[in-house]
Amino acid sequence: MTDHVRPTRIAVLASGGGSNLQALLDHLRTDEAAGRATVSLVASDRADAGALARATAHDVPCARVAPDDGEEMLSLLATHGIELVVLAGYLRFVPEVVTRRFHGRIVNVHPALLPSFGGHGMYGIRVHRAVLAAGARISGPTVHFVDEVYDRGPIVAQWPVPVLGGDTPESLAKRVLRAEHALYPRAVLAVASGDVRLDESGRVVGAMRGLADGSAFGLLDGSSTLADAVARAF
Ligand code: GRF
Repeated sequence: MTDHVRPTRIAVLASGGGSNLQALLDHLRTDEAAGRATVSLVASDRADAGALARATAHDVPCARVAPDDGEEMLSLLATHGIELVVLAGYLRFVPEVVTRRFHGRIVNVHPALLPSFGGHGMYGIRVHRAVLAAGARISGPTVHFVDEVYDRGPIVAQWPVPVLGGDTPESLAKRVLRAEHALYPRAVLAVASGDVRLDESGRVVGAMRGLADGSAFGLLDGSSTLADAVARAF
């Protein structure tokens, strides 16, 4: 665990409604998270992204980004003193110049258990359709570091969500999203505070608070705060 003198400054990049942004903003107001991180910027490639409206409602600075202009993105992030980039439903490829500069300090959430059901074009409802078409019995969110290939970076945390007999892509999406809202803010804080990080060889080291040492997956630890939070989400 790392002691904090000041909160880590986070930029959230989002293209859509921003429910994960909302979950992060809400979590940062809890005692569990107090003083550890702050959302200092919300940026989007889309002017109509609901995430921008949510940011405005919370007095968080907003910006539009030209998704292919990595240098402009870097300069925006520098202007806001950003230390950690959080992708939350950001549907564009992040330029390599950005993923390289933020190596180990840029994360994403994907709504399936990577490395299955990920990659270019695998987003939104398509992911859940593919899970059902494959007959998978378990799905769930994956939080991972972002590198220069879609959905490939080292995994920070995952959470299992059952696929039920009568599921449609939409019902499965709703169930996975509830788990995302519990898992992602805690995984983001673990990275923000240095509890979980990439080592020199690109491996994820450390553990999320409330989970057994070395575990990125708290199912077996019934006493963990994360397990409680996810259980409450269902
Ligand atoms: C989530 O399902 C997330 O896994 C994916 O995009 C969706 C974003 O939803 N990366 P929201 O905009 O946070 O509501």
